[in-house]
Amino acid sequence: MSDHHHLSAGEVNYKKDRPKAKNPVKIEDLSLRDGHQSLFATRGRTEDMIPVAELMDEVGFWAVETWGGATFDTMHRFLNEDPWERLRVLKKYFKKTPFSMLLRGQNLVGYRNYADDLSAAFVERAAENGMDIFRTFDALNDYRNFETVVPVIKKCGKHFQGCICYSLTEPRLGGEVYNLEYYIGKAKELEAMGADTICVKDMAGLIAPYDAFKLIKALKDTCKAPIHLHSHFTSGMAQMSQLKAIEAGVDILDTCLAPYAFRTSHPAIEPLVMALLGTNRDTGFDIELLAKIDEILEKQVMPKYRHLLDDTKMSIIDTNVLLHQTPGGMLSNLVNQLREMDAIDRIDEVFEMLPKVRKDLGQVPLVTPTSQIVGVQTVMNVLNDTPEESYRMITDQVKGMCYGLYGKTPAPINPEVQKKALKGYDRGEKPITVRPGAILEPELEQAKQDTKGLAKDIDDVILYAIYPVTGKRFLRWKYGKEAVPEDVKPISLEDVKKKEELVKKAKAGLLVEKPKKAAPEKGPGAREFNVFVDGEYFSVDVEEIGGAPVVRSVTQPAARPAAPAPKAAPKEAPKAASAEGTPLEAPMPGMVVKWEKKVGDVVKEGETVVTLEAMKMQNALAAPVSGTIKAINFEEGQNVGKNEALCIIG
Ligand code: CO
Repeated sequence: MSDHHHLSAGEVNYKKDRPKAKNPVKIEDLSLRDGHQSLFATRGRTEDMIPVAELMDEVGFWAVETWGGATFDTMHRFLNEDPWERLRVLKKYFKKTPFSMLLRGQNLVGYRNYADDLSAAFVERAAENGMDIFRTFDALNDYRNFETVVPVIKKCGKHFQGCICYSLTEPRLGGEVYNLEYYIGKAKELEAMGADTICVKDMAGLIAPYDAFKLIKALKDTCKAPIHLHSHFTSGMAQMSQLKAIEAGVDILDTCLAPYAFRTSHPAIEPLVMALLGTNRDTGFDIELLAKIDEILEKQVMPKYRHLLDDTKMSIIDTNVLLHQTPGGMLSNLVNQLREMDAIDRIDEVFEMLPKVRKDLGQVPLVTPTSQIVGVQTVMNVLNDTPEESYRMITDQVKGMCYGLYGKTPAPINPEVQKKALKGYDRGEKPITVRPGAILEPELEQAKQDTKGLAKDIDDVILYAIYPVTGKRFLRWKYGKEAVPEDVKPISLEDVKKKEELVKKAKAGLLVEKPKKAAPEKGPGAREFNVFVDGEYFSVDVEEIGGAPVVRSVTQPAARPAAPAPKAAPKEAPKAASAEGTPLEAPMPGMVVKWEKKVGDVVKEGETVVTLEAMKMQNALAAPVSGTIKAINFEEGQNVGKNEALCIIG
């Protein structure tokens, strides 16, 4: 590090004679988007950003991330806030710092590929409302999914930041797919598309310090565009990787203000400022100004969000990420899904199967939505496959991936799996090779028709087009056509304090008032429950008033205990008993989405009878035998338990 200007402690009076760095590291602050998305379920409200906005504008950030990712969804769904309005409001307070947003390529700020007309309109309106830098990524690193949005970003005179999703198939950089050549090739593709900056997007916090050095150095050697590193703290390596990236010449780094930093979020800015003080990469930031902002956030804002922080673990890092090279969120999903299926004991099989399924599906990067798609298919295989047959159940999303709906996978998909997945697939058995957007019909006109009399401008129409159900509901709230429910309204600091007082009282046992009447005799139906409140333990007897508890019969004697009851109980008496024949059983708990057949229909063995949604993925269930549908036991929208008879074929 001979080019680093080192200063020993006490050599410099930080305030008086801090030399201006020759090549300061530029910083993008993510507190107002990725920060609260990572730690507080994206619930940050605009009113809680305003108290620090003007001060943040003074720091000297290269950019502040204020929009995109999940914010668009949560704002209109859970916060009763118009996402477009946030941009315009914050822009009044940030007078000099550019805004950055996370754009999911042609998935925009949603979860599917939208049509070209809608994608173009979205980018235009985002630019018009105040967006400056479009950080654009694609889950498969298939940049054909950028072809629609990038020319619009450019046409609006805005900054196109191209992302490379960082992924690994081995513990460290290398292997057949995600090696140095892969990343350099991707960076060159982005430059050829006109990327103003190139961002290595390490969403899972996988990048190891020496790999960061190697990669950033290689990118600096090959690219003209400035290089940006986005690395989550999840595994605990990000601060080390940032320092090595700085040594390799990285231009821009992502950080959060301390109250929004660490855990699954990003390294904090404050220690970095001090670490670089006096070097030729000194950020030049005023640490006292940062401390002032932190204090406002701590005292005036964070109390409203503390309850959202996952504080069930002591550890602020996720060691599993280091062991399995998969995002932390994906791992906790897998555990939850197995628990739901009453199969948590098979977690090791899932970990073993995961790399195989990922390989079969073209070694896709694991980021939303691919992480979920690969994860759920793995669970399916572990639970349903037999020694004779693998991929016995394939989700609709995996079929879509095999068809090419998400784009081209980094490695080819296993042809046998692809053939099996596309057998009888409704879009066709032959996969597409064109960019996914090319096969989508325009959708903006339809959205305009659908929102006639409700939408007042194109921003309303776009909101509806991306989120038809919740978007329409939001527009009804916005224009006073429907009462705004209490749970989407903001809470004040006073409310929070009152609530905290109540919790304190409850803990001290001062809140529980004894009923005035004498306790009745405990009946035979009383059941004992253990109740845990904030680590305290109570034993409670519960008895149903006015009758014995209802005992539901268990329809299917199984070796494993029945799965936990789904939210809506299945019909009390399954009609299975009344009809003779072979049942089509639910292979896992889930919700009936759509019946393809009705009672009396003739079906052939292997023909799709019903679609079941499980683990947020849709699964077509086939007739186990040929025959006539004698009885249907569950309606669309109803939940079913594992092994329950969906219908009877006789
Ligand atoms: Co991120």
